[in-house]
Amino acid sequence: AMTHAFKSYEIDAVCNFAAESHVDRSIVAPDAFIKTNIEGTFNLLEISRQNSDRLVLFHHVSTDEVYGSLGPDGFFTEKTSYRPNSPYSASKAASDHLVRAYHKTYALPVTISNCSNNYGPYQFPEKLIPLIILNALEDKPLPVYGDGRNVRDWLYVKDHCRAVWEIMKRGTRGQTYNIGGRCESTNIETVTMVCDLLDEMVTKADRTSRKDLITFVKDRPGHDLRYAIDCSKLEKELGWAPIESFETGLRKTVQWYLNNSQWVHRVKSGEYLDWVRQHYGNEEGV
Ligand code: DAU
Repeated sequence: AMTHAFKSYEIDAVCNFAAESHVDRSIVAPDAFIKTNIEGTFNLLEISRQNSDRLVLFHHVSTDEVYGSLGPDGFFTEKTSYRPNSPYSASKAASDHLVRAYHKTYALPVTISNCSNNYGPYQFPEKLIPLIILNALEDKPLPVYGDGRNVRDWLYVKDHCRAVWEIMKRGTRGQTYNIGGRCESTNIETVTMVCDLLDEMVTKADRTSRKDLITFVKDRPGHDLRYAIDCSKLEKELGWAPIESFETGLRKTVQWYLNNSQWVHRVKSGEYLDWVRQHYGNEEGV
């Protein structure tokens, strides 16, 4: 497919957002993660190398999870050593290394970005925030792993996309940039915020709070305690800064899920697979 794409279009830049991205799925079935994240990136690198005469950039989108887990203090910087803890993050780490190696070995013009937890419109409801919104709307239990004190650094998806675009336009080739939202929150705080927003925006008939649905469940194996990104390199070198606070971004996100029940239905019922088959002829585009 990539050979066909490179033959059919005058591609001069590649931005690799494609990945299997859910940690829990990677624990249950790692195979797809090795195939998509490692072999998939390898395929893209190879086709890019074969067309390197016209390629101005290969940008690779990655994750802060390659750095492992933080204790209560400190931040991940671009110099932090890689210590991935899940099959997902190990597969992303492998893909980052391949991208770096293609720069060193073949002088492919690459940039890499490692971002924190994304949230916002169109996020698949396997991830914490959409899962909680949709379960809460259906009065289902809201599963919180362990004691809910794990910390994530939330980045609104449009802030992430703006950062990737800045790096693609002006980033130094061969460099890595960390992208974070400067919005640290424990999972229990995050879930509580979603419940409070929903209670305000769609008050339940019996006036009870969605917080009553919070259910502590068995912890994720190898659950990373804390992620927090130091994104000062990106801020200083390229003048990027996140626009959304967690409060404003979360409000927009909850509103988006309330306004887009058809999309939610398509995704939850599996109907989106029919759409993908219609558009792509198979499920590869999911
Ligand atoms: O940090 C960037 C990473 O963020 C990305 O590289 C991953 O692709 C993305 O999935 C995300 O990883 P997390 O594992 O942090 O995201 P997730 O939404 O699965 O979980 C967020 C936190 O919430 C995590 O500490 C686990 C917890 N959690 C998650 C789910 C799905 C719960 O407590 N209950 C849940 O039902």
